[in-house]
Amino acid sequence: MSMKNKMAISDIYFAGRRVIARVDFNVPLDKDGNITDDSRIVGALPTIRYLAENDAKVILVSHLGRPKNGPEAKFSMKPAAVRLAQLLGRPVLLAADVIGPDAKAKAAALKNGEIMMLENVRFHKEEEMNDPAFAKELASMAELFVNDAFGTAHRAHASTAGIADYLPAVCGFLIQKELEIMGKALDNPERPFVAILGGAKVSDKISVIESLLDKVDTLIICGGMAYTFLKAQGNGVGKSLCELDKLDLANELLAKAVAKKVNLLLPLDNVVAKEFKADAESFTVPSDAIPDDCMGLDIGPKTIELFSEAIKGAKTVIWNGPPGVFEFERFANGTHKIAEALANSGAITIVGGGDSAAAVEQFGFADKITHISTGGGASLEFLEGKELPGISCLTDMPSGCDCSNCAGCH
Ligand code: 3PG
Repeated sequence: MSMKNKMAISDIYFAGRRVIARVDFNVPLDKDGNITDDSRIVGALPTIRYLAENDAKVILVSHLGRPKNGPEAKFSMKPAAVRLAQLLGRPVLLAADVIGPDAKAKAAALKNGEIMMLENVRFHKEEEMNDPAFAKELASMAELFVNDAFGTAHRAHASTAGIADYLPAVCGFLIQKELEIMGKALDNPERPFVAILGGAKVSDKISVIESLLDKVDTLIICGGMAYTFLKAQGNGVGKSLCELDKLDLANELLAKAVAKKVNLLLPLDNVVAKEFKADAESFTVPSDAIPDDCMGLDIGPKTIELFSEAIKGAKTVIWNGPPGVFEFERFANGTHKIAEALANSGAITIVGGGDSAAAVEQFGFADKITHISTGGGASLEFLEGKELPGISCLTDMPSGCDCSNCAGCH
């Protein structure tokens, strides 16, 4: 998936034009509605600032959470709009609705350089259905569409893809940056290239594993899904997560790694417990001696050493999915040490996926990582080599056009 031939924000003249910009402000909130991680809002600032500074009339649209019953206060965009205004140091108007009278009146009254935000676009079920009439209504408020919601680029929804049927559509700086950094790492990596894949299920990551086996020198498999591979190799895995119907597949992937000369690493030892509990009694066992009544919840010290050595020798590292249940302190050591190994590696390091991104933040290594993707599902689909609807919907650069006012061409 590349941006080649797609129009970007710098190809457009914005002054005086009403622009609807899709951002991904689907940020985590605590029980009191406070934002606990604003990196997705921070990530969109360059685009929002650029639009405002270039005198666009800016209408932001995003979802937050997965509301299923129309408008609900707990899913309001208000905390995100307030945080954005603080970060920008300028007002951000929040509409009371999405395509209703308040949104339309506020959009019509915008002056050059002013910014407003629509309410949560998923308050309308038509959003996720990519309903054309709804997309058209959204589009009717503006003259141009800027997509900067990398985190939602894998969704073919009305505000991420459908709307591009009705407006000239270009990508923003965040999408550009995400695709450039991850695209280069995948297509032309500095080697050795190491990928670390964690997460619960092999079934969620089959295509990512297959795609990465064509590109990497070392593939580290850890987290819950490692136990399906360990079981496929003939180990007992006790009560660990294991997909018994995927054992043949795991063996096929192991054989593919051998055929492609990829160094595939699995845990050598594991921190196990009898129960999935923060304070469960834990002990470390080799991968071929997991007791029947125990489950693996983290990687052990020998594995940390093995994985850290591979990371230390790498020039490019991609990490998606933690190796242990780092939400529980007792089982956080492996994730902490992997984050630390990335931070100290001197390699180009790319962290994707909500959990691994949260881990590098939590352990204080975020500023030592080359790129922390704002996409969870989107970055995985990108690694799989899948087409992202939020990118493929963008307007193609007209052939032979080199004007600096390209929206005028449409
Ligand atoms: C995400 O958090 O991955 C994106 O915002 C998409 O959200 P969704 O999984 O609810 O579509």
